[in-house]
Amino acid sequence: MEVHRDIDSFRQARRDLDGTVAFVPTLGSIHEGHLALMREGRRCADHLIVSIFVNPTQFEPGSDYEAYPRALENDCEKCESLGCSIVFAPTEDEMYADDHTTTVTIDGLTDVLCGPQRPGHFDGVTTVVTKLLNIVEPETAVFGDKDYQQLAIIRRMVRDLNMPVDIVGVPTVRETDGLAVSSRNDYLDDAQRRDAAALSRALARAWHRFNEGLRDAEQLVEAARHHLLTYDSIDDASIDYVQCVHPETLQLYGGKHREIGEAGAVMAMAVHIGEARLIDNLRLDAPLPDELSDG
Ligand code: PAJ
Repeated sequence: MEVHRDIDSFRQARRDLDGTVAFVPTLGSIHEGHLALMREGRRCADHLIVSIFVNPTQFEPGSDYEAYPRALENDCEKCESLGCSIVFAPTEDEMYADDHTTTVTIDGLTDVLCGPQRPGHFDGVTTVVTKLLNIVEPETAVFGDKDYQQLAIIRRMVRDLNMPVDIVGVPTVRETDGLAVSSRNDYLDDAQRRDAAALSRALARAWHRFNEGLRDAEQLVEAARHHLLTYDSIDDASIDYVQCVHPETLQLYGGKHREIGEAGAVMAMAVHIGEARLIDNLRLDAPLPDELSDG
């Protein structure tokens, strides 16, 4: 496996690969969630390329950019063990010229869920993913359902801009108690870690209500919020949002449009526990993941 830190030498190595390429972009701090994406990448193409880049433009001011874990050597070992051909781990200077002025913005899908709480975040994501796709030129790029809104935005971007890449989504990898695997889980102490299982349990609660026939999104959201509030570390103020949205357009169900129709719904939430801002989501009209089935 080769590791490249500058674009020119990466491009040379990329040109030397024979066959198709699947690409998994990451912020590094590789965990089981990333590994599932890499396995999927290995399945769909002859070669796997992984990028590791803590992208500054997607961290809004005051967020955890400085604190975000960085472990390049360890990460590269994990990539190699999964059969990755090339790791692209550029420096910040390599990715962003001092006077860069181009941003990719996707309208509409960014107005809900994490959009209002994280101004500029999705512009940072769509800009860096565009740059990475231009550099890597993969046939397939693999993303996680864990960041449902990010995946929906990237699908829309690739469609709207006719980018020549297939986008593949991979189901969320969870701990045995249901908590979605995330590098931000490391910010939790033991008690907070126990409470963090509340997110997936609250989603499972809403899933059961939906599958018993409840179609009123506001009542489903209320059921999930009520469940969250029974945990020590979680109060009203620590819930950023709990929302039900259309699976593709991400249009919010609520008010006059509170009735969930044929298209189904995704319930998504963001909750602060201690230093961590955790997100999770669940498709209500799909089978319940095994880890959530006793929730
Ligand atoms: P990062 O948070 O490192 O995640 C990289 C990819 O792993 C994303 O597609 C994310 O959805 C997926 N992922 C994370 N945790 C997962 C889990 N528990 N199960 C399944 N997939 C999971 O998302 C980013 O980085 C960045 O925004 C990036 C796309 C790299 C652009 O900078």
